[in-house]
Amino acid sequence: MTAVIAAAGSGERLGAGGPKAFVPLGGRPMIDWSLDACLASGSVTAVVVAVPAGYAHHLQDVVTVDGGRTRAGSVANALNAVDTELVAIHDAARPLLSPELLDDLVAELVANPDADAIIAAAPVTDTVKKVDGDRIVETLDRSVLWGAQTPQVFRTDALRSALRSTDAVTDEAMLIEAAGGKVLVHDPGVANLKVTTPLDLRVAELLLAERG
Ligand code: CTP
Ligand code: MG
Repeated sequence: MTAVIAAAGSGERLGAGGPKAFVPLGGRPMIDWSLDACLASGSVTAVVVAVPAGYAHHLQDVVTVDGGRTRAGSVANALNAVDTELVAIHDAARPLLSPELLDDLVAELVANPDADAIIAAAPVTDTVKKVDGDRIVETLDRSVLWGAQTPQVFRTDALRSALRSTDAVTDEAMLIEAAGGKVLVHDPGVANLKVTTPLDLRVAELLLAERG
């Protein structure tokens, strides 16, 4: 499996004055946590990272590609450098990635030959409202709602053909769903938080320090 890491975002909401993936987290650039997990996974044979302009030289021993204008564009660029049967798409913004999570996803996908993909996801804990402007128009049934995370592991052929049919997505699993494919969910069971705001950065720092 090739691990693709989307790391080309600008980190507007974090507001750290530079691209989020390269902001210090526990004494090293945020992306290093995800990179270490990918390189320690027995399932991963190659890593491709989509980086912001001017940042390729920060990474050694991995393939880098130019980021796109959107996350989907960055992932599409990275996919051009993938030649393995399976591909994992992961956001550098989720630094709590573990090799075990990657390996668990791969094992479950391999055990389900009819599935095209499997994603890390967890049941939502908030009650989710559909809002139009500032007015609630619907309360969704929480018992069937899951929050999609990364990593998301795909049969590469399935992802490539789904990519041809649609664009403008917030995750790659949507493409397979839209194409009528089968996507499994896997609850990591441990924190796999996404760093978006300065508060998230502090929480991630504490959790990584606790992990040791
Ligand atoms: N990403 C990317 N290419 C882009 C935009 C985002 O590779 N053109 C990556 C980010 O680096 C991140 C992941 O996609 O790892 C999820 O995006 P997000 O959390 O939104 O990160 P940013 O876009 O950097 O943050 P913001 O939206 O606050 O600017
Ligand atoms: Mg963004």
